[in-house]
Amino acid sequence: PRPLLIDCDPGIDDAIALLLAFSVPEALEVTGVSTVAGNVSLASTSRNAMRVRGLAGRPEVPVFAGCPRPMLAQPVFADHVHGVDGLGGVALPGEAGGLAARHGVDAIVEQAADRPGLAVAAVGPLTNLAVALVKRPEVASRIDTLVVMGGGLERGNVTPAAEFNVFFDPEAARTVVESGLRPVLVPLDATHRAPVTFAMIDELAASGEGVAPEAAALLRSYHANVGTDRPGAYVHDAMALAVLVWPELFERRPARLSVVTDAGAERGRTVADFASGEPNAEVVVDLDAGRFLERLFERLRSYPRP
Ligand code: BDR
Ligand code: CA
Repeated sequence: PRPLLIDCDPGIDDAIALLLAFSVPEALEVTGVSTVAGNVSLASTSRNAMRVRGLAGRPEVPVFAGCPRPMLAQPVFADHVHGVDGLGGVALPGEAGGLAARHGVDAIVEQAADRPGLAVAAVGPLTNLAVALVKRPEVASRIDTLVVMGGGLERGNVTPAAEFNVFFDPEAARTVVESGLRPVLVPLDATHRAPVTFAMIDELAASGEGVAPEAAALLRSYHANVGTDRPGAYVHDAMALAVLVWPELFERRPARLSVVTDAGAERGRTVADFASGEPNAEVVVDLDAGRFLERLFERLRSYPRP
């Protein structure tokens, strides 16, 4: 299995991403989880990462708290989407304590140095990674693969131009895009193609297997919060993990990415140029949504009952 560090802001879809990562030990060895302010405060995202680790029965995986605020912007949280606690007020079995002493930024720097072949899945604002790259630029050449959930090429979900993770810290996103790290970007254009409907959520809950009932409770709250007029709950962050686990389900295209950091209506826009310019990233442009969700749900059901 390849070593994987997950940088996240749980967040309901982050929680689903963590549950997917822990469920594929044959493919991924989760060497740590770093947390960042984003959907909710750093204190809450860190606590939630530990709650999900508890639910997954993986108390030995270290959780490192990272940056409590964006580089330059003022934080704008998303508790109207993920609930005040960040996990939809859902009660989860398992322990929530035991934060690692190391700062999240230092955990990224150290794991990049010590774990050859390290993959990083960044599914929150990119502050931790950007600060790690500023602190130790060689991190860019030491991370083998970086998958980022972020950006909306056609449209955003916070403003018409900007997706949440990029909007929360555009300077950080730009730092990462310009670092030479060549991220694989999973934008809203891809994640919106795999909505989890209430019918699917009911079926998951009814299975009673593994962590499916807990995942269903999380997704139900998320779907209800973002509005039932949508086709379903979007599991954005879990899709970023799935790109590492099941690459054959996704089509990627090289692109020249840029991030708008100017003040104004365009702030936080992610632009992908597929036609000109030296590519500095790959963008997921197509996927087998049905197989992705089928395999994700199968993995959630495969856990021992907590
Ligand atoms: C992204 O924003 C967050 O609210 C989600 O967890 C996901 O990472 C989607 O825009
Ligand atoms: Ca997230």
